[in-house]
This record gives sequence, structure tokens and C-alpha cells, in this order.
Amino acid sequence: MLSWDDEPIAAAPRLPEMPQARPQLQPVSAGAQFAAHHPDTALNPALVMKPATPVNTAARVNASDKRIINGKTDVNQLVPFKYKWAWDKYLAGCANHWMPQEINMQRDIELWKSPNGLTDDERRLVKRNLGFFVTADSLAANNIVLGTYRHITAPECRQYLLRQAFEEAIHTHAYQYIVESLGLDESEIFNAYNEVQSIRDKDEFLIPFIETLTNPEFTTGTTENDQTLLKSLIVFACLMEGLFFYVGFTQILALGRQNKMMGAAEQYQYILRDESMHCNFGIDLINTIKLENPHLWTPTFKEEIKTLFLHAVELEYRYAEDTMPRGVLGLNAPMFKSYLRFIANRRAQQIGLEPMFGNEENPFPWMSEMIDLKKERNFFETRVIEYQTGGALNWE
Ligand SMILES: [Fe+2]
Ligand SMILES: [Fe+2]
Repeated sequence: MLSWDDEPIAAAPRLPEMPQARPQLQPVSAGAQFAAHHPDTALNPALVMKPATPVNTAARVNASDKRIINGKTDVNQLVPFKYKWAWDKYLAGCANHWMPQEINMQRDIELWKSPNGLTDDERRLVKRNLGFFVTADSLAANNIVLGTYRHITAPECRQYLLRQAFEEAIHTHAYQYIVESLGLDESEIFNAYNEVQSIRDKDEFLIPFIETLTNPEFTTGTTENDQTLLKSLIVFACLMEGLFFYVGFTQILALGRQNKMMGAAEQYQYILRDESMHCNFGIDLINTIKLENPHLWTPTFKEEIKTLFLHAVELEYRYAEDTMPRGVLGLNAPMFKSYLRFIANRRAQQIGLEPMFGNEENPFPWMSEMIDLKKERNFFETRVIEYQTGGALNWE
């Protein structure tokens, strides 16, 4: 009989030929002690204090058996890694951590409140811009948490999706923080997705794809359903995060380049950095699913994707026209026609489709610098943004 004061007994040797008079006990852990007093918990002592049995190492997860969808390996076992790109993006996302309240909004507040601080067109642009974003990232979060996450069977990718979901919460927080700082009519901004047609059209385009994945009845495992999942992933990575955000990002960053709304522009710069990683993760995910399931990538499927791309470009262009009925900040809607076609071509190529528009030039080369900047200081201010959080802590 063991008492709690006894030294733990070493695990019995796992040699089947050794006769055993009575079952050997495994060391009693603190968890087992707790469980012994809490028999209703999941920590059942019977599971811990059991006879030593030979371990079946053949049941261990092999990295080569992992699959992005329809995998049979345990999703709770992160290691051994197979999809190192997903893990690396998870680490990079954590290293880029930021919070909206860290950014000083005082100059934005003064500018917004000053009667001559901004033109009417600039104010309309800011409000319509926020009107899309205050709900868009919540849609993105729902899609991840209630939809995509359930259907992905690679734990490295699920780990990234958890980080991404939190980043979407930070983005929603950032937009709310800007609305609150400027003292905007919250009801107007937060209802824009219902009340402003150009915003509503974008959301209505997305919602069927979210609803498919979040439907509890939906499961992968057939060609048709796997194609449905792949289509939703493409819509989200390439068309939502990779296209629908870009008119809005460009507008606020253009304000920042003219020394206006610098705090908001700084927030958008961090969001842009996060979103470009979300988009790249999604593209890696899509391309790996294609590699593992080449039968999904049929000519009909590709045609369907192309139609979705063309529709999305049209919707985003209408949003550009609606937010900028006249030229503002050196920008105008027709410039966005080229920009959106340029981006759509790029997204198509990234997932292995032919570019769908002719040789489009990027009218905003400075946006590429913003996205690609591997910088230590942000574009507008001097705050160090490469702050490494947990990884840099020293406990000694
Ligand atoms: Fe986001
Ligand atoms: Fe995102």
C-alpha cells in the first residue's frame, strides 16, 4: 500500500519475460493524487495507476502520414512537424504581436476635431473605410474558428489558425479603438455593413462561403466537399484578405503618407503586415492541399475560381468608387481598377492559375514597400515594431 509520503516507485522494466508477482505501479504524479480525490474528473486514477504494459510505438504519429485535410493522425500531436512553413508563420505571427492601445491617437483626434483638418471627401473615405473593416475581421474570425479550423487536420496549421484568429480579434479591436478615439457615430459605422450597399455587396459575396464551412452538417471526405472547402479557402485568402482589404489599406496609408491620421495609419500598417501573412499562409495551405489532392484541381473547378475572382474585382472596384466619388489624396477610383487587376493577377499566379487580366502595372509601388518592409521601425513613426514578446524573456 502506498502512502502519499512514499518515494515514487520507478517504472517497472518493460520486459515481458520477467515474471511479476503483482502489477507494478507507475510513479504517482501530482495529477494522479489530485484525481484520486476527485474521481469525477477526467483524471481517472485507474488510468494512471495501471500495470505497466509494453508501449506500442507503431501507433506513434509519423510526419509522412499527416495531411492538411482528411488526415488520420491525431490533431492534438503537434510534433513531429511536417508543415514547417505553418509553424514558422506561427512563430513570426507571435513575434509581430502588437496591441491597438499602444499607438498614440492624439494627433488623429485633434485633426478629426479641427473643422478644417480634413476635407469632406477625406472624412467620407475614413468613415466608409471603417464601415467595412469594423465587421470584416469578425467575419474572418468566424470563418476560422467556426469553419476552417474544424476541417484542417494538420496540427501545425491549426496552431497558426489559432494565432490568426486572435490577430483578427486584435484587428476588430483596432478599428473599434479608432472609431472610439475619433468619437465617430458608432451606430453609423458598425451598421454600415447593413446600410451601405457597396459594403453589403462585399459581405454578401463572402457569407455563403462562411456558411458552408460553419454548417455543422458539412464534412470533408468527398471530392465535391473537398472542392467546396478549397473554394472557400481560396475566397478567403485570395479574395477577402488578399483583395477586399486593399482599397481600404491603400486609402488609410495614403492619408498617413500625407501626415494625416498618422495613428490610424500606423494601426493599419500593422494590420496590413498581419494580413499579408494570413494571405500567404492561406496560399501555402491551398497549394499544399492541391499537391496532396491533385484530383480536386479540375478545369471546371479552375473556371469557377476564375469567375469568383472577376466578381470580387468588380465588387471591390465598386467599393473604391463609393468611397472615392471624386479624386482624393492623389487617389481616384480608376487607379484602383489597375491596382485590383494587378493584385488579382498576382493572387491567381500564387495558386497556379493564369493571370486573368493583361499586363497590369502597380500604380501604388509604395504599397509593396509597406507590405515587404522587413523593418525595425514603422513607416510613420519611430516606435520599434519588431518586439519579441515571450521568446525574449529571461527567467534568470
Ligand atoms: Fe484581420
Ligand atoms: Fe486576416
